[in-house]
Amino acid sequence: MNKKLMGLAFASLLGASQVASALTVGFSQVGSESGWRTTFSESVKAEAEKRGIDLKFSDAQQKQENQIKAVRSFIAQGVDAIVIAPVVETGWRPVLMEARRARIPVVIVDRNVAVEDSRLYITRIAPDFTDEGRKAANWLMDATDGDCDIVELQGTVGSSAAIGRMEGFNEVIGEHPEAEIIRSQTAEFTRAKGKEVMESILKAEGGGKQVCALWSHNDEMALGAIQAIKEAGLKPGEDILVVSVDAVDDMFPALAAGEVNATIEMSPHMGGPAFDVIESYLDGKRDFEKWKVMDGRIFTQENYQAEYEVRKAN
Ligand code: AHR
Repeated sequence: MNKKLMGLAFASLLGASQVASALTVGFSQVGSESGWRTTFSESVKAEAEKRGIDLKFSDAQQKQENQIKAVRSFIAQGVDAIVIAPVVETGWRPVLMEARRARIPVVIVDRNVAVEDSRLYITRIAPDFTDEGRKAANWLMDATDGDCDIVELQGTVGSSAAIGRMEGFNEVIGEHPEAEIIRSQTAEFTRAKGKEVMESILKAEGGGKQVCALWSHNDEMALGAIQAIKEAGLKPGEDILVVSVDAVDDMFPALAAGEVNATIEMSPHMGGPAFDVIESYLDGKRDFEKWKVMDGRIFTQENYQAEYEVRKAN
């Protein structure tokens, strides 16, 4: 067994608080732009504590330059491994090469990095964003018989969550001649921007009565937009259908109130699988699948109740 892992086993025998942690992992997180992101950060921290891992957590505040600085600082500190949830896809090659030269393994979680050399990271743990977009569009096309004027709130430009979701959604609605995206704008995955952008779209659309549905790349923007729809005197979920991604806790009361029609689940619990990979890598394993896909369910008016009960109990 690798000596770091022997240290960890020893640490858990004695109780993690009684000995210095054996394994140090740097985690560069996107930011705290959404409820989903906050749950994800909390889950990674809890998992690290459970395993006796010394987690160096860095919040990039949605800026890639902050992430690159954080990764360089993890390298300088000589961490045992680095986990990155990238803000955007491009611009990662130089810093990943630096980590490789320092022989520090990197695991990518959530959004992707666009690099040709697959040796620059061990594996990526993430959902299939394109499939999430397809699921959202399939639900909407079924609900509207394929006839719908859609408003789209995009996530952060250049992020794989926005790129993939847009691609998957457009692929499906492209098969429905009566479905059209009439407005599409980024609201950067935040609730405040979701409200602000939706307000201006509704104004530009003469109040929004002819808008059939809101397709939001995440729940946080959808929740902001719902506020704007209500303030415009319309009923979200009825006058304007709402379909989104994440299935955060806040969406369940909104589903119960009939203000949300569908949300695709994205699991925020990627810390455990990421640490599993790191521990096996440090123990000598080398053959990892390049992408571990995290599956998600779709919650609608028909099936949300059971999950809502589970969440209320936790
Ligand atoms: O990259 C995943 C997306 O980022 C989540 O759907 C969103 O809530 C977050 O900000």
